[in-house]
Amino acid sequence: MDHTATFPTILTKRLRLRQFEPRDDVGLHACLGDEKLVRFWDFSACESIAETKRWVRVLAKTTSAYDSLAWAVADASTDECIGMVNYHHREARYRRLEIGYILNAKWHGRGLMSEAVQALMTHCVDHLKTRRIAAIIHPQNAASIRLVGRLGFELEGGPLRDYWRVGSTYMSPMLYSFIAS
Ligand SMILES: CC(C)(COP(=O)(O)OP(=O)(O)OC[C@H]1O[C@@H](n2cnc3c(N)ncnc32)[C@H](O)[C@@H]1OP(=O)(O)O)[C@@H](O)C(=O)NCCC(=O)NCCS
Repeated sequence: MDHTATFPTILTKRLRLRQFEPRDDVGLHACLGDEKLVRFWDFSACESIAETKRWVRVLAKTTSAYDSLAWAVADASTDECIGMVNYHHREARYRRLEIGYILNAKWHGRGLMSEAVQALMTHCVDHLKTRRIAAIIHPQNAASIRLVGRLGFELEGGPLRDYWRVGSTYMSPMLYSFIAS
């Protein structure tokens, strides 16, 4: 699929995964500005909406879609941005990549991110011909571990020692993977 020509919008029962737009700054800030939400990520919370606006601009770019791409996760009925999914570190010749995801806490516990990640996985397998999808997850991130477990990922290894640096702290996450058959 030529990502530069047409952004690969993905529709699910309750969600629209689409390209980021400037109006998504408030919705994304509810995710990236929430310290409790990003505490298990390789990322410090955005301290201002200006910082999140910069992320919206970065995430909206499709110029590096061969290696990475992000989708705004929008409520299908209102098109409000409530989260983000992405793939990154794609190695096309090995048919592998890694995924990431975050959802506004107000929307947790309804299976929405399972729905979004399942759709992202289908896109990666069907359109990018991906075989191996990895998720690198902090060992205390119980919701994320539960989510990937339900979608067929298996714990492969870890802790990956000092794999992430957040500020002056290093974190040692676990490696989960899904193999498309
Ligand atoms: C991970 C995250 C996206 C899950 O969003 P969500 O929409 O609530 O996810 P779902 O409802 O689809 O599934 C979450 C599962 O985890 C379970 N869960 C939620 N919180 C939990 C907890 N504290 N302990 C154990 N399980 C938990 C839910 O019950 C659900 O499992 P079930 O469907 O079998 O009942 C959300 O918690 C989030 O945005 N976290 C911060 C960002 C993040 O850590 N991203 C992952 C980086 S690796």
